[in-house]
Amino acid sequence: MKGVILAGGTGTRLRPLTKMINKHLLPVGKYPMVYYAVEKLRTAGITDILLVTGKHSASLYTDFLGSGKDWGVKIAYKIQEEAGGIAEALELAESFVHPGEKLLVLLGDNLFEDSLAPYVKEFANQPEGAKVFLKEVEDPRRYGVPVMDGALIKRIEEKPEQPQSNYCVTGIYMYDASVFSMIQAIEPSARGEMEITDVNNLYASKGLLSYHLLNGWWIDAGTFPSWYEATDRLREYSGPSLPGDGK
Ligand code: DAU
Repeated sequence: MKGVILAGGTGTRLRPLTKMINKHLLPVGKYPMVYYAVEKLRTAGITDILLVTGKHSASLYTDFLGSGKDWGVKIAYKIQEEAGGIAEALELAESFVHPGEKLLVLLGDNLFEDSLAPYVKEFANQPEGAKVFLKEVEDPRRYGVPVMDGALIKRIEEKPEQPQSNYCVTGIYMYDASVFSMIQAIEPSARGEMEITDVNNLYASKGLLSYHLLNGWWIDAGTFPSWYEATDRLREYSGPSLPGDGK
């Protein structure tokens, strides 16, 4: 299975800091935010990774991550010219994924506790479809909100005024290779973005969208309060040490 980290976008909710630097390079503990997505993929056994970034700060990603060698993974890069939506960023991964191969997609601003290793194993054995990860949240109106039907998701509503559940669809997605034809089939939304929720709803309409509930903490670190929370949670976190690291 391949890994894709989406780290484009404009990061407007973290202005003015993101005028200077891309959101996913902001420090969280000892590392830039993006590091945690790389680590989640690596510890789930996924070492072939594509990182999609915008043009802003692009060279800083390679300064930190390089080829991925130091971090025990192999990283390729693609540039999303304009922030045209999460599904548009994901479309850039098409040539990176072999026909029939599955992929685990992480939004670079999502930080979480659970290991994805067991779910990767399970999804690898699943014949087709997509899987999303849900977390119960206080204010679901800020997120994609699922309407569940047993083990499947019937539909997802993006940032609804009146949420149908207290769950949020997190930025952790597993897809079979048909995700790229699903992206081809959607149109930009009213806000002009290619929405990942529209892609997920295509799977849902075919009865092919299942879910897992996350057990541990989960943070969308795209706002100041949530970025501070992430910094607190990960203050003591240490990954593998590299030559020359501070103590
Ligand atoms: O965090 C979970 C939520 O993420 C989901 O519940 C929503 O369904 C989903 O639409 C998304 O909502 P956000 O409003 O948080 O998305 P945002 O625009 O902040 O983008 C999230 C990440 O996606 C961001 O860290 C980088 C990546 N991205 C986003 C856009 C718009 C790109 O790589 N390219 C883009 O053009």
